[in-house]
Formats: sequence, C-alpha cells, structure tokens
Amino acid sequence: MKKNLIIFGTRPEAIKMAPLVKAFFKRNGEFETKVCITAQHREMLDQVLQFFEIVPDYDLNLMKPNQNLYTLTADIITALKPILEDYQPDFVYVHGDTTTTMAASIAAFYSGAQVCHVEAGLRTFNKKSPFPEEMNRSVAGRICDFHFSPTLTSKQNLLNENINEPNILVTGNTVIDALQFSSAKVNSEGFIDDEIETLKELINPTKRIVLVTGHRRENHGDGFINICKALKEIAEKNDDVQIIYPVHLNPNVQKPVYELLEGIKNIKLIPPLAYPAFVWLMNASYLIITDSGGVQEEAPSLGKPVLVMRDTTERPEAVDAGTVLLVGTDVNKIVNQANTLLNNKTFYNRMSTLHNPYGDGTACEKIVHYISNL
Ligand code: UD1
Ligand code: UDP
Repeated sequence: MKKNLIIFGTRPEAIKMAPLVKAFFKRNGEFETKVCITAQHREMLDQVLQFFEIVPDYDLNLMKPNQNLYTLTADIITALKPILEDYQPDFVYVHGDTTTTMAASIAAFYSGAQVCHVEAGLRTFNKKSPFPEEMNRSVAGRICDFHFSPTLTSKQNLLNENINEPNILVTGNTVIDALQFSSAKVNSEGFIDDEIETLKELINPTKRIVLVTGHRRENHGDGFINICKALKEIAEKNDDVQIIYPVHLNPNVQKPVYELLEGIKNIKLIPPLAYPAFVWLMNASYLIITDSGGVQEEAPSLGKPVLVMRDTTERPEAVDAGTVLLVGTDVNKIVNQANTLLNNKTFYNRMSTLHNPYGDGTACEKIVHYISNL
C-alpha cells in the first residue's frame, strides 16, 4: 500500500487540497493517506477544514500573531521531522507557494519521500513579486519529483527549467474541483448556511456589490493605504454600489483597513467568510477587486470581472482572455477602472464573459490516477 502525507497550512492551500484528500480517501484500499496541517493559519484554516469535514492526523499548530518568515520556516521544518520519521510516507504532497509549501518540500526531501507539487509551474519571473511566493514555488519546483500543473503555460514554465516532461502532468486547477464540491453541497437538500443567511440580511438588494479581498505582503504599508483610498473614492462616487470586504486576519491588513474604512456608509467590513459563503458572495457580486491568487482563478469561471491589485501575475490565462485586469495599487488606476466597469455596460459585458482556463473539476482524479500508475 502506498503511503501518502498531504501537508498544508493556509486557507487557499486547504481549499485546493481538500478535494485531493477526498479523492485519495476514496481509494483507501490502494493508498493510506494522512493529513498534516502546519496551521500557518489558524481560524481561516479551521473554517475550511470544517466545511470539507477533514480531520487532520497531525496538527502542528504553529501560527503566532504577526509571525515572521524566518521563524515560521524554521518551525515548520523542525516540527515536520518527527512526523516524517515516524510515518515514513512514500509520497508527500505540497501545494502552491506559501512558506508551508517551501518548508514542507524541504523537510519532505530530507526524509527521502518522493515529493509532489500541486499547482506547479506558476511564475512571474520576478522574485520580489509576489513576495515571497515566487521564490517559494521555485524552490518547491526544484525539489519536487512530480509536478501537477494547472495549465499548459505552467507546464511550459517547468519545461523551460529543464524538468523532465514525464514528471509533469497538466491537471487543471484543483480549485475548480473545490468550487464544484462547494456548489453541490450548498445546493443539496437541507443545507443551511448561517453565514449566507447573515449576508442576505447585510446586503442591500437594490445596490450592486463590489467584493474586495486583499492580503499580499508586497502591498503591506503604502499599498494598503492606497487601496483603502481608492475604495473610499469608489464608494463616494457610486451611491448605487455597496462594497463588501471580508478582511484578512493579518494585522498588517486589519489595521489600515479598519482605520481608514470603518464607518463609511456603503462599505461593509466583515470577518473572513467560510468557503461556501464566500462563493455565494462572489456569485452575488457585480465586480471583484482583489490581490488574491485563488479568487483570480474562481471569478472568471463564475463570469465576474476582476480588477487585480498587483503589478505582476503568474496567472496570465484570464488576463489574456480579458476577464481579469491588472491595476496595481495606484489609486487613480483602481478608481478609473472600477468606475468604467460600473458605468460602461459594453466594457462590463466584454469583461464578464464566462471563461474557465483552469479545468473541469477532474484535477484530483488525474493526480490520483497518475500516482496510482507509478
Ligand atoms: C499567507 C501566505 C500567502 C498566502 C496567504 C493566503 C506566506 C509567506 N504567506 O499570507 O502566500 O497567499 O497566506 O491567505 O506563506 N492570521 C490570523 N489567523 C489566521 C490567519 C492569519 O490571525 O487564520 C494572522 C496572524 O497574526 C498571522 C498573520 O495573520 O501571524 C500572518 O499570517 P501568514 O500566514 O504569515 O501571512 P499571510 O499574509 O496570511
Ligand atoms: N476565500 C474564502 N473566504 C474569504 C476570502 C477568500 O473562503 O473571506 C477563499 C477564496 O474563494 C479562494 C481563497 O480563499 O479560494 C483565496 O485565499 P487568499 O486570497 O487568502 O489566498 P491566495 O489565493 O491569494 O493565496
């Protein structure tokens, strides 16, 4: 029996690894699969585990308030050692580009396991943007034995780095698997979600929703001050709009956002939402403004235009298709593009076409099949 250890630590990794955990659990005659969470995130990770009904076998419980990259990296590697030595997995799975991804891939390599990278090959070719994610995923890419790329573009990036072609599989992004799971569960008989009911009470049905999220490290400081100025201006100039902003729990985000935006009448600041409520809110929105990676992948498949508050992207597919626009953190750029989308229907319709370059929801089955045939 092949032994798997699936390691993740933050909200987006959990959302995108949850369907893989479930896909391996379905094959428990062939695989023994254990889940290890570093808990680089705590509350935001637990929200995901609860929704997907995943109980981790190992919980490193590492999150500290306002943690830093140095100690987090060291803590993850140190805490994984006894688990890897005790369980001795054949395959370790890491996801994406967080500190958990990079540190867990190093620890897994030290243990002698074969290391698998889910969402492999995304690149901006700028090691400072996104920081530190571009370097995290490059390190993981160098270490990993098997690479599951969401698109042909990400596969090509790995080929350009001399990764062996048979070790790369294009799967689509597992986030589409997660979206489909979430929609099926939310639409199933008897499912009631308290957060969705609360959102329905909060939202004014006569106003259009602009949904906002943001957390990128390179936007901390001036970037977030600019983002808040822009949101304030959009709210002031568009009375028929309500901005709904589930604020990331990072104190470097909470502080400027609550200081600059609390109390403005058509801006609602709310805590991070669990996945089903967030998907519901994306669907209910007119426009999304974000610096998130995952949201950039989900929104085009829901037909929602996205303004991305970043200067670089490792996800060119939706930009090329015209459903996503990079606006950086320049106040005028954010305000002008948002106003155009809010007031020019032709432009809006062009950007809101349904587009799904990230797969058909079978990414996890493809991964399981590939590992099964090794
Ligand atoms: C991390 C990842 C980033 C990913 C993002 C997803 C790194 C370096 N950064 O950024 O790649 O895109 O997660 O959201 O890996 N906090 C809480 N509760 C939580 C989560 C965070 O209180 O559930 C607070 C804590 O004070 C924590 C801080 O946020 O110390 C920062 O968390 P951290 O994971 O280091 O950085 P993120 O900005 O969340
Ligand atoms: N998300 C969520 N609740 C929220 C905001 C986002 O469940 O309040 C989901 C979103 O649908 C996406 C993921 O979290 O799947 C993105 O996480 P984040 O933006 O924190 O990280 P990134 O994708 O940028 O690494």
